[in-house]
Amino acid sequence: MSEWSRDPEGFARMLPPGFTVGVATAAQQIEGATHEAGRGQSTWDTFAAQPGRIADGSTPDVATDHYHRYPEDIALMRELGVDAYRFSIAWPRIQPEGTGRAHRAGIEFYDRLIDALLADGISPVVTLFHWDMPEPLQHAGGWMNRDTASRFGDFALLAAEAFGDRVDKWITLNEPTTVTLNGYALGVHAPGATLMFDALLAVHHQLLGHGLAVQALRAASVKGEIGITNVHSPVIPAKGNFITRQFAEVFDLVHNRIYADPVLLGRYPKFPLLARKQFRSLIEVDSDDLKTIHQPIDFYGLNYYMPTRIASGAPSSSHTPDGDAEAMRDLPFHLAEWPEYPKTGFGWPIAPEYLAASVRDYAKRYGDALPPVYITEGGASFPDVVSPDGTVNDAARIDYLAEHIAAAVGAAEGIDLRGYFVWTLMDNWEWAAGFRERFGLVHVDFETLERTPKASYSWLQKVLAARS
Ligand code: FCB
Repeated sequence: MSEWSRDPEGFARMLPPGFTVGVATAAQQIEGATHEAGRGQSTWDTFAAQPGRIADGSTPDVATDHYHRYPEDIALMRELGVDAYRFSIAWPRIQPEGTGRAHRAGIEFYDRLIDALLADGISPVVTLFHWDMPEPLQHAGGWMNRDTASRFGDFALLAAEAFGDRVDKWITLNEPTTVTLNGYALGVHAPGATLMFDALLAVHHQLLGHGLAVQALRAASVKGEIGITNVHSPVIPAKGNFITRQFAEVFDLVHNRIYADPVLLGRYPKFPLLARKQFRSLIEVDSDDLKTIHQPIDFYGLNYYMPTRIASGAPSSSHTPDGDAEAMRDLPFHLAEWPEYPKTGFGWPIAPEYLAASVRDYAKRYGDALPPVYITEGGASFPDVVSPDGTVNDAARIDYLAEHIAAAVGAAEGIDLRGYFVWTLMDNWEWAAGFRERFGLVHVDFETLERTPKASYSWLQKVLAARS
């Protein structure tokens, strides 16, 4: 047990004044009701229906049934005492076909949700794209199709017009890195494409979509602040030799820099001579596009889960942190293990010092170009069970959260770190892992949908109460 987990009051004193503590979710992972009230089909609905795509064969059709149970879930957040709730708007609820006017029933659902949050004093933080693209757009190529960026700008405008008077923060994209790598390069996430380096075109289109969405939100004069969220993983070469360092550099570019540099600096990073062929779709870009991508933003969202260690040589298995990817077998490098760290249920190394390193990386790389930063996600999965006495003892999650938040706060020098959002409020449908990985502060029984707060929920509740 970590020192912080024993002492919620002491932990609360360590938080800087005004530091936002929130919880985060995503529509596709919690809402369910995928065929209700005229919602269109999403790319993840399609993907999950394909045999073999989801580890336990499950679908997001019901998920946690948040679409119907949101009042109960908001009550859980109110009791918890969080400042803010980061959730995503399901694009196919607002534009079932991916184009055209806003679908009334979709708008009404988020109206009810936002109003209920505000009534309970919880600040609404909206993610516009948390991976659930309307199927007709996916059918036309998804993020490989440049037109999708404009469609996303249109969707942002509809959301801005409907909710712009009440939302406190807008996040355009969630983790374009993961969408590109898992979805378009390796095929472990929707849409299941295995384009390897050719997937990099999807990076440019997502970032263009980000720029157009920021412009749309500004044009609609939304009252809230605007930012983007990416997932950062510090990349460490397993050995000090030249070739391993080069592979690590390529992975750092692919995972981190090709997203943050254009958004914050208005240019793609310099690519190593040896890899120019692989990065060509990001080299031959129009400078006007870069201007669109480089919009002033009010905050930067950084998700952190784990570091990456790169070793040279082809992978000996198709294992990735998010599922099996045969496509990866041809690479000349692989993701090496972290034997020195304990692991989460997902097998991800628990390494809070690398969250500190992420914060320092950002401060060093982007300096004055970096707006205030929020850690927009962080958390861990463990195989939690409800004990006969009705409690869920997830002490490991308390340690995880306490150590990570403390690490981030401790490293925030030269960077304006404003908050941390716990991933996630309740156990949910964890993409390709289905219902196998539990990340919640609240346990969900996926048969009965009963919610049971875990020990981590009570710990965070004590921290937040001690703060005021
Ligand atoms: C992040 C995603 C989020 C969840 C966590 C575990 O990459 O943004 O939806 O799956 O990982």
